[in-house]
Amino acid sequence: MTRPLAIAPSILASDFSKLGQEVRDVVEAGADWIHLDVMDGHFVPNITFGPDVIARLRPHTDRIFDTHLMIAPCDPYLEAFAKAGSDIITVHAEAGPHLDRSLQAIRNLGKKAGVSLNPSTPENVIEYVLDRLDLILVMTVNPGFGGQKFIHAMVEKTRRIKAMIGDRPIDLQIDGGVTPDTAPLVAAAGANVLVAGSAIFKGGTIESYKTNISAIRQAAENA
Ligand code: DX5
Ligand code: ZN
Repeated sequence: MTRPLAIAPSILASDFSKLGQEVRDVVEAGADWIHLDVMDGHFVPNITFGPDVIARLRPHTDRIFDTHLMIAPCDPYLEAFAKAGSDIITVHAEAGPHLDRSLQAIRNLGKKAGVSLNPSTPENVIEYVLDRLDLILVMTVNPGFGGQKFIHAMVEKTRRIKAMIGDRPIDLQIDGGVTPDTAPLVAAAGANVLVAGSAIFKGGTIESYKTNISAIRQAAENA
């Protein structure tokens, strides 16, 4: 079963002084989802933004808000990120000892539940929560920063997770170092949602966002 290809620009690489405008521009340029990277300076060595910023961005578009929580603990904040207007909330498997509980909590809030795996985390940690998942995020860099180099060993991991998913209605997402060169590798391995920050926001204009998004989309479609 193939799920539709979606390109999800990460606003981490956008101009934070005009976030609302950046979201509208990247949507006009063809973004399918908006990927929101939340970092706490504890689970990852960087700090970004929280639920209030997401709530302020919500009226700027009706595209899917795909919230990637790189925070620990995550459970005390799930409700705030749901109320802020997230459609999907993704937590890291490494962020706490009770992944099953976190995923249940997200679905109980009426949101889609995702799990993210750091590059060094084996895919078997999600074996017993597959039926609680709407999305699996394979990190292809170590989380915390944009603009890092794609880790090629993650292509095989993506292929294995695709096989684990089978016929379940789960999106398989890739995040980190996605470019027109790496997109075909993960698309061929079964990924259908591609997050990209620097490869999309480079250029700083709607025109360049359009060119950048279509280059990634084409490369993935041709894979
Ligand atoms: C990294 C974030 C990514 C980041 C990707 O921790 O989760 O979403 O924005 O940036 P690029 O596409 O530049 O690797
Ligand atoms: Zn991310």
